[in-house]
Parts: sequence; structure tokens; C-alpha cells
Amino acid sequence: MRRKLVVGNWKMNGDLARNRELLGALSTRVPDEVDCAVCVPFPYLAQARELLSGASVTLGAQDVSEFAEGAYTGEVSAAMLADFGCRYTIVGHSERRSMFGDDSALVGRKALAAMRVGLVPILCVGESLEERSSGRTEAVLRGQLDAVAGIVGASSLSKLVIAYEPVWAIGTGQAASAAQVQSVLSFVRGWLADRTPGADDVRILYGGSVKPESAGPLFGLPDSDGGLIGAASLIAAQFLGICEAARIAWQDNVRQFEGLK
Ligand code: 13P
Repeated sequence: MRRKLVVGNWKMNGDLARNRELLGALSTRVPDEVDCAVCVPFPYLAQARELLSGASVTLGAQDVSEFAEGAYTGEVSAAMLADFGCRYTIVGHSERRSMFGDDSALVGRKALAAMRVGLVPILCVGESLEERSSGRTEAVLRGQLDAVAGIVGASSLSKLVIAYEPVWAIGTGQAASAAQVQSVLSFVRGWLADRTPGADDVRILYGGSVKPESAGPLFGLPDSDGGLIGAASLIAAQFLGICEAARIAWQDNVRQFEGLK
């Protein structure tokens, strides 16, 4: 059975003092039943690694270079992230796609670079409001997923975490409805199942204005394995509340599973 995964994406937020307070609050209070990670800005990886040593919260980055090493000024390689104890890196976040020119081919190359050193890429996919309004949600996601699959190869798809983040739900306070989320997550699960026997092992997250109040229904959906959390990951009480919702959803899954035996 897939464990729930809750990942904080701090985006370009934090400083040494605030990080210390936030990570201090998380490090002892995240429930054991839930996998939890924080994706911090590059300069704070060392600090976060130290503050999380011995804690069950794992570490991730928000982006990675497609290149392994060399004359690429300003880039950060996957090996460097691994060196600092990262387990995850986000690739293809919509903010990078829309503001920094990360197209799906580049996102695929970044995912491949991450996998080559054993990092787990958290691949973000999602449609804009205009794309949803014109009925193109699945076509857009298929395009984003196909491009990455073409680069990493079908046999590596089971090494990804996939995060469905509708662009219109990010930072707007307007999370997608449970029905909208389940419909897309099941589409993604089906897309995976057509390509890899490991489809049932892949964790698919939802991201976009998740708060403690909305997390429970979203994490309890049949194809939902947790969330990628922006603003609420910067507030310890909110992030812990979301982790608790994941724990409860996991317990419900276990109960259902036991009931089926
Ligand atoms: P918010 O939770 O702030 O909407 O951000 C979601 C997100 O982009 C996580 O990657």
C-alpha cells in the first residue's frame, strides 16, 4: 500500500532564523505514519540538513540542473543535491514553466539528471484556467507527461512522484474540488498503467491552496497519495495539520484494506 507523502515547497521564502523555528517545530512532531519532506531554497540545504538530522522529515530541492557538472554558471547539479542529503527535487513546477522557460523537454532532462544520482523527481503537471475552461485538461497533462516519458523512458516512470498542480489553484486560496482532483489523478494513474506495470506504486500528489481544512477530503481520494504544499508549508501549525490529515487518510486506507482481507 502506498504511504501518504506530504511535501512542503517553500518557494523563495525563509531566512536562517525563520527556518530554524519552522524546522525545529516540524522535526519532532510529524506523525511516523506519514512520509514528510521539505523542499527548501538551495542556500538553506546545509542548514536544513543539520536541523533535520535524526528527524523523520526528509529534504528536497525545488529545481535541478539538467547537466551533471561543468561550466554552467548559476546551475546546481543533482549530485550536489544528493551531497547535501536531498531525497527529492521538484521539476517542472508551473512557476518555472511560466516564468523561467522550463518546457516539458527540459523538465524531462532535469528529471533524468535527478534519477541518475538516485534522487526522486517530483514532477509537476497541471493546466491553466483557460485550458480547463476549453476542455483541454487531459490533453495538456498528456502532453506534459508524454514529453517526460519520452526522455526518462517508460521503465523509469515508477521512480517518479507526480504532483498534479492546476495553475489556477496555486496561491489563489481556491483549491480544486475533490471531484476535479480525483478525475485528474485517475487519468494520471491510467496514463501510468498504460506504460508501466509499476503504476500502482507511483505516488500522485495534489497541490494548490491545500490547507489543513481541505487536506482530509483531498488526501482521502482513491488515487491520492498526499500533497505538495506551498504557503501552508511555511506555518508550522498548518503544515503539521496537513500531515495529521494525511495520517488520518492513511489510517482509513489501512482500515479499508484490512476490511477487504
Ligand atoms: P500553494 O499551496 O501556496 O497554493 O502552492 C502550491 C504549490 O505551488 C506547491 O508547489
